[in-house]
Amino acid sequence: MQLIFATNNQHKVQEVRSLLNNSFTLITLAEAGIDRDIPEPHATLEENAREKSMTIYQLTGSDCFSEDTGLEVAALGGAPGVHSARYAGAQATADQNIYKLLQTLTSQQSRAAQFRTVISLIEQGTEITFEGICKGHIAETPSGKKGFGYDPVFIPEGATRCFAEMDLEEKNQYSHRRKAFDQLKNYLLSK
Ligand code: IMP
Repeated sequence: MQLIFATNNQHKVQEVRSLLNNSFTLITLAEAGIDRDIPEPHATLEENAREKSMTIYQLTGSDCFSEDTGLEVAALGGAPGVHSARYAGAQATADQNIYKLLQTLTSQQSRAAQFRTVISLIEQGTEITFEGICKGHIAETPSGKKGFGYDPVFIPEGATRCFAEMDLEEKNQYSHRRKAFDQLKNYLLSK
């Protein structure tokens, strides 16, 4: 079984590939010969995930999936959420997004947060979605060099270190993306 993963984010490809254990073959956009940025214009993770997977399905006619992920901070009403990538501005770097988040949280009592991943699978034109949530909290200061995005400031529930201090195997024990992807795998393998 072959599936295209509709993302240009190599960190996500690496994380998902580490979970495959031969269940199916995952083809990246580059491997499928597709060189395009897929827009994320919507107000929800679900709509953005569907936009990405449908765009690639319409382009290729092949079964594919995409995912959209947001960091949802309770004290900020779920922000930055769907705007996580652009929290500090349209071209913001991960460091700038983290800086803005830490500044915004200085006046807040609660640092509770969660990552939420929505996967949109398109099979012969029909969509099925899967969700994975990782609860945790935002650290006072960044630590660690591994991972990407907000990993240097996110400590998952049950751990004492940030995602950026963990290798992939340890991050996957807690990760939102791993939980959503497990459901996708179970669905595909149960058919
Ligand atoms: P998107 O799903 O590519 O739109 O990601 C939204 C934002 O969340 C980006 O700034 C990513 O860097 C960040 N992000 C997504 N997944 C993770 C993760 O697993 N750890 C840390 N940051 C993440």
